[in-house]
Amino acid sequence: MEEKNNKKKIKELELKGDRRDFLKKSSLLTAFSFTAPLVSKAAKSDFDERLAALIETQKVTLQINGKSHQLAIEPRVTLLDLLREKLHLTGTKKGCDQGQCGACTVHVDGERVLSCLSLAVMQQGKEITTIEGLAKGKQLHPMQEAFIEQDGFQCGYCTPGQIMSAICCVREGHATHEEEIREFMSGNICRCGAYPNIVKAIQQVQAAGKTV
Ligand code: FES
Ligand code: FES
Repeated sequence: MEEKNNKKKIKELELKGDRRDFLKKSSLLTAFSFTAPLVSKAAKSDFDERLAALIETQKVTLQINGKSHQLAIEPRVTLLDLLREKLHLTGTKKGCDQGQCGACTVHVDGERVLSCLSLAVMQQGKEITTIEGLAKGKQLHPMQEAFIEQDGFQCGYCTPGQIMSAICCVREGHATHEEEIREFMSGNICRCGAYPNIVKAIQQVQAAGKTV
């Protein structure tokens, strides 16, 4: 009988309605002691996802590659997913999606940031630069040129993140010798093993003394 009543209550939590309704339903969730099979059934039917989808979107204005974007986004969306899924700036790569590989590196206010670990809503008022924002028209950024000249990539999957970090390596004065470069770049993983030529590319840019 209790099982039957609980099933009825779950049905009543159908995800239709406004935010007040959602909050009411959330309270109901904690108020009722559902049996384990029912909880597991709710989980299997993407219950959490559907609850989360009810969270109101938030309006933000983001500056990306010198362009202003007015967006309404869910607070839980990462900067990486926003760039790739919503703005179609797919140059920034998703590798591990948990801060381990560096493939998703972008610049925020000139500093390298792992976009998979950054919430998009936190970037309001900051200047975001992705790999797409480096070249000036047809003129490549000096680090992009150096990667080509030094053969700093193979499959190229890690290359955008490597280039974004490499620029900061030079910009922040960590490119004076090889060990220092390797240490600074250690968060950017390359499964093809292009490391020696990446180091050469960074040394080339550092030696040229250009502003990056
Ligand atoms: S995708 Fe962000 S660190 Fe791997
Ligand atoms: S060039 Fe292939 S992963 Fe780095």
